[in-house]
Amino acid sequence: MLAYDNTSRPDLTQWSFTETEFNPLAQGKCESIMSLGNGYMGLRSATEEAYIGQTRNLFVNGTFNRFDEFEVTELPNAADVTGMDIYIDGERFSLDTGKTAEYARSLNMRDAELTRSFVWENRAGKRVRFAFRRFVSLGNLHLIGMKAEVTPLDADISLRAVSGIDAQLGNSGSQHFHEGEKRIFDKTVMQLIQTTTESKVDFVIHAAHRFSLDGQPLSIEPKMEIERRKMAMQYGCDIKAGQTFELQKLASVHTSRDAEHATDYDLAVMREQAREEIRLALDAGYDALFERHRQAWAEVWDKYLFRIESKHDFDLLALRFAVYHLVVMTPAHDNRMGIGAKGLSGEGYKGHSFWDTEIFILPFYIYSGPDVARRLLEYRYQGLEGARRKAKENGYEGAMYPWEAAWPTDGEVTPVWGAVDIVTGKQTKIWSGFIEQHITSDIAYAVWHYVQATGDRDFMDRCGYEMILDTAKFWASRLEWNEALARYEINEVIGPDEYKEHVDNNAFTNYMAHFNMELAIQYYELLRREQPELFRRLNEQLDLERAYADWKQKLGRMYLPQPNEDGVIPQDDTYLQKQLIDLTKYKAQQKVGTLFEDYNLDQVNGIQVSKQADIMMLFYLLENRFSAHLKHTNYNYYEPKTLHDSSLSYSTHCILANDFDDSQLAYELFRKAAEIDLGTHMHSSDAGIHSASLGGVWQCVVMGFAGIRMLDGALHLNPKLPQEWERLTFPLYWKSARLEVDITHDALRISTDANEELTLIIRGTATSFVNQLELHF
Ligand code: BGC
Repeated sequence: MLAYDNTSRPDLTQWSFTETEFNPLAQGKCESIMSLGNGYMGLRSATEEAYIGQTRNLFVNGTFNRFDEFEVTELPNAADVTGMDIYIDGERFSLDTGKTAEYARSLNMRDAELTRSFVWENRAGKRVRFAFRRFVSLGNLHLIGMKAEVTPLDADISLRAVSGIDAQLGNSGSQHFHEGEKRIFDKTVMQLIQTTTESKVDFVIHAAHRFSLDGQPLSIEPKMEIERRKMAMQYGCDIKAGQTFELQKLASVHTSRDAEHATDYDLAVMREQAREEIRLALDAGYDALFERHRQAWAEVWDKYLFRIESKHDFDLLALRFAVYHLVVMTPAHDNRMGIGAKGLSGEGYKGHSFWDTEIFILPFYIYSGPDVARRLLEYRYQGLEGARRKAKENGYEGAMYPWEAAWPTDGEVTPVWGAVDIVTGKQTKIWSGFIEQHITSDIAYAVWHYVQATGDRDFMDRCGYEMILDTAKFWASRLEWNEALARYEINEVIGPDEYKEHVDNNAFTNYMAHFNMELAIQYYELLRREQPELFRRLNEQLDLERAYADWKQKLGRMYLPQPNEDGVIPQDDTYLQKQLIDLTKYKAQQKVGTLFEDYNLDQVNGIQVSKQADIMMLFYLLENRFSAHLKHTNYNYYEPKTLHDSSLSYSTHCILANDFDDSQLAYELFRKAAEIDLGTHMHSSDAGIHSASLGGVWQCVVMGFAGIRMLDGALHLNPKLPQEWERLTFPLYWKSARLEVDITHDALRISTDANEELTLIIRGTATSFVNQLELHF
């Protein structure tokens, strides 16, 4: 079904992948993994013609709406502009009928273009070649370009195309929009307005067509249709055998959330500007617009210049796939928005941001595009308001970040009810929004990681200190004193391993909270000493002197779970006493979550089984606090009990396996991480791609095989390429210098334009250089 080599376009080897057969029962796969976008909007790659089982999605980042008081806010599914019904001699074209040959649907990631082509034979035996192309512009964030070419191969045909804007869509049945005005200008430009019901975000959607026959412009008198939540144009054309009819559709999306309308907004003005823009786009046409888009992507790939020379072409393809989707999903244009756990490629997780961003995706940006990393952290800075509200509502101080976040001020938006409980038949309650609290220290950690790697003092002064200090205040108020054991604990939480709910002293949560408070103490002292004016302001705002005394008093008495006599750190107070069962069947599962076919969550809570990396994640984030031996012992204990049912798991295990010199296992885990979306499992991506896992793929390569780590403010490199690889090169930003790193099995070369001396720790030895470094192993 999926082919990873492109035999018809050798120039796209390792840049594209192809669906070789249309499978109506597995449409979600390519809709997601071939989705297009530009950070402003994401367009799922549903086919032009309609099929049962397809999901049409167009999401505009940040346009969250709450459908009703019993639901949480989510990204609304905007009107569809891609749908098109084509009739050949009156017969509706569909791959479900007739015969199809030479089918190929490809995502060309180099140019971010979706193509689909095939020869379709209708009931009357007429063969027609179809070729579709589509892009979501990176040159103009509001623009979508589409093209369809139709060539009858052996007989003349009469073609009719019905194409428009369809707002009869929703999010799994929820309708987020009030219907607005619809109008067709000059029998050409369709304009549809829709407004979200609660957040009152206006969407202005435009679409317009142009045609040619064998390259000659064609003017076609349309039939116009306006219905409820829908409008369309109908065009007819007679095409002779061998002639090529081309239909171009240019569409655009503007919303009142767009940054340029943040302060001065007038719907009438936005409509006029957008209408003028689509008119210009129509004049320019697909090819010229695509060229601008292609150049914008060429700049992206110049910036993120990765190379892997491997025995397997798939490896570089997988890294490019990860980077492609990271760019497509990231709102690099607007710091009021985060990254959804499924990017903008599906309804899954409602467009909400989780710790996935800070822990799995942010490192990619810290080291490859620090300006974007800063914007993502600024989004969390704006989220302080919601985080403070959440803390207050729960009886705590400071800032308690929401487990799931949407618009910065929304606060907690985790839904409360989830999948079926196979024992009770009720919906399982999702506790994460209440008690999965490690997100707060994950964000503080990310701020620290960012500033250590970039040295961005300005960000710290404006946002970073406040975030770290206020999150530390939350933790101090969250700690519970255990009189009997004379220690502070954190009880009743969910750690990263979501198969263990309501646990006490999850090691990850406790250590990370401790880290957060420790950091706050250091920054408090630093600010007091070196930036008295900023200190005075923050002290006044956050009552820091009192908070500092509290941190000092509590930190040393905080319980940090220690290894037992076997060297195993308990994941929480009861994990090691839980039942052991034979997990062989689940470890060998083809799809995730099969445990829940046999047990409900209550029962899973009683078993020593983990959904995902938990303590392993702690070892990775705070790696120099634990000895290599301790980490390895724990890896051996927890890995067999970890089902990797979350896509966030493989990459962490890969990096640790690499640290333990198990290069073969590390490579296998890298492949598994890479195959979550790009692999051949036809349903793994139905609800959207897995953004954290894609960040994780980059981390496997750079933090894993290249051994990049930031430790105690220094950059470490400890390269260990897999046997399968010959060479790895990638860009890396360190304290505002851009380095080009080039690794082979026996050498490391680094070059940089920065003229200052740089000191890096290479395989444990401090090594200084200016401009160039070449080391042979
Ligand atoms: C994982 C979380 C993750 C979330 C969103 C869950 O299945 O357990 O760690 O944050 O998905 O990706």
